[in-house]
Amino acid sequence: MSKIIYSGIQPSGVMTLGNYIGAVKNWRLMQDDPDHRCIYMLADLHTITVRQNPQDLHDNAMRFMALCLAMGIDKDRSILYMQSHVHEHCELAWLLNCYTYVGEMNRMTQFKDKSAKHADNINMGLMDYPVLMAADILLFGTHCVPVGIDQVQHVEIARDIATRVNNLYGDVFVVPEGVMTKVGAKIMSLQDPTSKMSKSDPTPNAVVSVLDTPETIVKKFKKAVTDSDTQIAYDPISKPGVSNLLTILAAATDRSVEATAADCRHMRYGDLKLATADAVIEMLRPFRERYDRLIADPAYLHEVAAFGAGRAREIAAPILRRFKQAIGFVLPRAD
Ligand code: TRP
Repeated sequence: MSKIIYSGIQPSGVMTLGNYIGAVKNWRLMQDDPDHRCIYMLADLHTITVRQNPQDLHDNAMRFMALCLAMGIDKDRSILYMQSHVHEHCELAWLLNCYTYVGEMNRMTQFKDKSAKHADNINMGLMDYPVLMAADILLFGTHCVPVGIDQVQHVEIARDIATRVNNLYGDVFVVPEGVMTKVGAKIMSLQDPTSKMSKSDPTPNAVVSVLDTPETIVKKFKKAVTDSDTQIAYDPISKPGVSNLLTILAAATDRSVEATAADCRHMRYGDLKLATADAVIEMLRPFRERYDRLIADPAYLHEVAAFGAGRAREIAAPILRRFKQAIGFVLPRAD
């Protein structure tokens, strides 16, 4: 039996270099394993836990779809779809809400961080975010959820909820494993290399978008914050800036961080910055060309999205039905 791999990304803001190296690149690699059945989702329902401008949300979702395809996510081998096209997500999230404790959600690190950051809009959705994410994962009989370190706690909660439901009703859900993406699991801000490169970071030059022009990419890397000495070595604790550059360079050239650090140890910081910028530009170049063609063809993007949503529902609907039956609901008769 093949292993179900499930992951998602929020289509808000611009797709960053960190999103590509930490998530989408890995998605592409995983779909090459014949024992994997990969399901990838654009988490648009999650984005509205923070207020979104409607036109931007719409355009960003289309851009993320085009970018995933441009970066090699194969709509036939994998399932690629938008969360809001599959209403089972919302329905399961409601059901799971009744098996999740307020205290558990209150303790979630991301909820606490986001509540502090968006103190004027601590909506129920923000608190419920992990339950919707649990619904995403459990709807598909997922075995494995590749995520960055900041999402590991959410996968843990999905496991807890699945186990709780199974203890009540028998084997309803597969209990998923979170798998931390290794290489480039966390690409840091170029301006503050102790915090994650985040698409919502307003600091100029902190975030590289995968759609930035080569000139912009060079400019941002030239301005990257490095460390106070001049030694090039991989040491994320005492040399976060240089280590971040080495991580990016290693990912962009498909080499290990160790080999990259050894190669670069005699360089000056300025050379390392330019080498990294060049490698990133070359890595992104083919995506840019394919992206330009795809984004100009919204009808095709809609077709791909509908195809993915249809296949997603074929898997999700019976699992949701099984849970509803286990709870004791009267199921509507199919005639
Ligand atoms: N919360 C995830 C993030 O921001 C995105 C996401 C939503 C997700 N649903 C998911 C990831 C299900 C893995 C599985 O990165």
